[in-house]
Amino acid sequence: MQKRRCDPLDALNQIRKKIDAYDQELVQLFEKRMEAVLQVLSLKKEYKMPIFQKEREEQVLKKAAENIQNPLFEAEAREFFETIMRISRKLQARLLFPYNIVLIGFMGAGKSAVGKELSLLLEMELIDIDAYIEKEMKMTISDLFERYGEAYFRDREEEAVERISKRKNCIISCGGGVVLREKNIANLKKSGKVIFLEAKAETIYSRIQGDTTRPLLKGNMTIAAIQEKLKQRESHYQRAADFTVSTDHKTEREIAQEIIALLCEASPAVEQNFCF
Ligand code: S3P
Repeated sequence: MQKRRCDPLDALNQIRKKIDAYDQELVQLFEKRMEAVLQVLSLKKEYKMPIFQKEREEQVLKKAAENIQNPLFEAEAREFFETIMRISRKLQARLLFPYNIVLIGFMGAGKSAVGKELSLLLEMELIDIDAYIEKEMKMTISDLFERYGEAYFRDREEEAVERISKRKNCIISCGGGVVLREKNIANLKKSGKVIFLEAKAETIYSRIQGDTTRPLLKGNMTIAAIQEKLKQRESHYQRAADFTVSTDHKTEREIAQEIIALLCEASPAVEQNFCF
């Protein structure tokens, strides 16, 4: 007897029906997982526990790898869970910090490095004002200073701050001299919380000695010169700051966690933003 050939469209529709049913289950599970994530967030916030724990993410990935039955999908399963955790972090950050996080402080205080760490932990976009100006002007900051002088750079900086302050939900890492103009701080504060990263002159020196891209300390890279400039700026930083965090002898991860804890304490309860 001749075997009846199946209609390929029919077969396709059958498989698609199965996929639709799996997706429906996935969406329901996704929603439940997100709600559980927010319950964890609320508990951690109430009991002042660290909110973003990379170690826990590693555990989740390990468990997923153990549970996967078809080794063909191992790499995809890892990617799937990495994505889910990235989305979870983004959701938590969006509810906790519905504003920009602005980092100020002297050169070498750790703004760029801590900015990167915060951006990674909170899944928030990082905007480095110096890098933004360099891209706009197609020129390094050192060249800008050398060719046009400091006043010209400060005007470009003011324009950049004005534009960037209109963005939402970003980490903004500022140049060390951004506090020299009141207008910059007023703009940054409209949409953001300002964190002053503080460091001793000795710490700053140990971090930036040998760096030739710092026009303000060009030919004068000494602890005394740093101390002098710090003294001139200290009150500007203090006045601009919503929060101050000391960065001496701390890793970028520790500083980022400290900032998150400070902002978290000041933010409203998660339940106010979300109905469980
Ligand atoms: C400056 C600091 C630099 C850069 C420029 C001027 C300053 O930024 O904006 O060289 O006045 O302190 P970093 O603090 O990121 O090095």
